Amino acid sequence: METSDPRRLSVWLIDLGEGHEAEFLTLSTHFEAILIRKEYGRTEVLRDEGHPLRFYAVRYWHSATAAEQCHRDPEIQMLTARLYQISRVTHVVNGVRRQGAVRRLLDERRARVEADRRSGFDRRLVSLGPAEDDRRNADRRLGPRRVRDRAGEVNLVEAARRAREHADAAFSQFKVGAALETADGSIITGCNIENATYGLTICAERVAMFKALSEGHRAFVRIAIVADTENPTPPCGACRQILWEFAGNIEIQLANLTEDKGVHHLKTLLPLPFDARLLERHTL
Ligand code: THU
Repeated sequence: METSDPRRLSVWLIDLGEGHEAEFLTLSTHFEAILIRKEYGRTEVLRDEGHPLRFYAVRYWHSATAAEQCHRDPEIQMLTARLYQISRVTHVVNGVRRQGAVRRLLDERRARVEADRRSGFDRRLVSLGPAEDDRRNADRRLGPRRVRDRAGEVNLVEAARRAREHADAAFSQFKVGAALETADGSIITGCNIENATYGLTICAERVAMFKALSEGHRAFVRIAIVADTENPTPPCGACRQILWEFAGNIEIQLANLTEDKGVHHLKTLLPLPFDARLLERHTL
């Protein structure tokens, strides 16, 4: 029987951000429908009696192969990406993953991302995470960048405000901070850095993105941008391009030192993007 075989059971602990309950229930219904329709298995969502925003999602897989297919399914990955935006997800039981399966999945994902390296299209759906055997990354979640304390309390804007304090804007005096949230919940910050040639200046957003990429992150959820201005400071054109290519239609939160100044999606700020999909015929 499925339920008695721990290798075929996966359990996730989901700490939901406040105000996302209705959406979570809709997402769960979609998860369930896909699992049944594609014969991956079935799923059950249990609410924690003691914590109104805590849920346990239990999946009973038909087989180990079905579970692996499910993890790779783009429809599932899309829902999972959204789930990561509205909650903190902790894997409690990963019973179905046999020795070597995780490694194979990661390798496949890496290969896929490499193939798709310049497509720039919704790459936040493909979460690579740090290399499995990279000890430097082992405690990342405990490090200073790990500003999420409880679900719904990721204060990305505050992280961007703090990053802004490091800005080196000796020429413009215009300090900017950015904080990028990855699909695994890490926060990577950046600030603008100017220099005497002016032209080599780099914006806060690109510093954050390049830092994240250089540390192995490939899946992004949101970015917060903070400047000391009454009107919102949106990302410049160069940053929009880089964000599009590496983060897809990411959410962008704008704020100044004391107030939020609006939330946008990159697609609306960069409505007709140029990216590698347009190069396809020329690179083969
Ligand atoms: N800047 C950013 O860092 N991000 C933006 O979104 C807009 C502009 C920086 C670049 C430069 O150091 C200063 O702000 C003035 O343009």
